[in-house]
Amino acid sequence: MDNERLSNPGIISSDDRIDIALRPRLLEEVTGQDQVRENLSILLTAARQRKEPLDHVLFYGPPGLGKTTLAHVMANEMNVNIKITAGPAVERAGDLAAILSNLHEGDILFIDEIHRLNRAIEEILYPAMEDSVLDIMVGKGPSARSIRLKLPHFTIIGATTRLSLVSSPLRARFGAVYRLNYYDLQSMEKIIKNASIKLNIRADENGIREIAIRSRGTPRIGLRLLRRVRDFAQVRADGEINQTVSVDALELLSIDKAGLDDVDRRVLATIIEKYHGGPVGLGTIAASISEESDTIMEVVEPYLLQLGLIDRTPQGRLATRKAYDHLNVPYPENGENSNEPKQPNLF
Ligand SMILES: Nc1ncnc2c1ncn2[C@@H]1O[C@H](COP(=O)(O)OP(=O)(O)OP(=O)(O)O)[C@@H](O)[C@H]1O
Ligand SMILES: [Mg+2]
Repeated sequence: MDNERLSNPGIISSDDRIDIALRPRLLEEVTGQDQVRENLSILLTAARQRKEPLDHVLFYGPPGLGKTTLAHVMANEMNVNIKITAGPAVERAGDLAAILSNLHEGDILFIDEIHRLNRAIEEILYPAMEDSVLDIMVGKGPSARSIRLKLPHFTIIGATTRLSLVSSPLRARFGAVYRLNYYDLQSMEKIIKNASIKLNIRADENGIREIAIRSRGTPRIGLRLLRRVRDFAQVRADGEINQTVSVDALELLSIDKAGLDDVDRRVLATIIEKYHGGPVGLGTIAASISEESDTIMEVVEPYLLQLGLIDRTPQGRLATRKAYDHLNVPYPENGENSNEPKQPNLF
């Protein structure tokens, strides 16, 4: 793997190493994301039939849903090389020029966190993506001039957790943009079951279901919880994962029946207790509980929205009745604490 990396993405924990080993390699091994899978299958088949490189593809969605995995799957399916970099790793125009000029015909360049590319560098990408050319400046001052290099036809696969931060000119240059959604329970069960088989973990169906329920629809989390439950089973039980073992292990990890962890619950509790149910801005919530606002925006909020525990309004986030119920706090039916949506805000 290391030789495909153009930049060091940081330390890979043992968890990540196992995740990588568990990654599906081909499209038919990918579980869930049916619509994206079907679209990709058409995209891949069409490109193969025409013997052309793939169109540029952008994946977006919360962390851990399989953006990086799908980029690798596409490279395997097309039988091409994949080079990997990330928005913050490309600091200077020269970095990108070096990466691009080392690509071969048909290669895939995967740019993770593409929303963090700086604008000056994005501008080099535009002609590269559209016309496979690289404009570089040589010389300085009055004698500076731009020369145009021809690049091989290559494919950019971008990934981002924050589509709204990808500039519109960059977004427009992707031929296909796919949103990854949280996985349904059935897909999560299948992913966790497959992983338990590959990792030689003894687990029954109910034990797996309990992990799947609490994995917030996210394979990375499901795989991580599976490992923690395995530890628990080994130390506190006879090594086999069943429902009781899963529930006990996950409760001990403070992961509740809805898959919420301490941070999620603190966000809800803050909206309800400190801000009377909202509306309150995410930045304010993050500051109140001393968490990174990026974590709140990318990880916490999308899942709470998905579960219907919060609502998003132009004034900020509101806790719903379901959130009160989840935390066992009585819902204020009316009066000043009511978080019933106010009169619609007509601008
Ligand atoms: N559809 C899937 N089927 C089976 N396993 C999956 C699937 N999607 C993801 N995984 C597993 O989950 C792990 C996390 O996925 P991946 O690294 O692709 O997520 P990501 O969307 O790139 O996350 P991030 O935004 O944090 O980069 C993978 O290593 C893989 O083992
Ligand atoms: Mg990734």
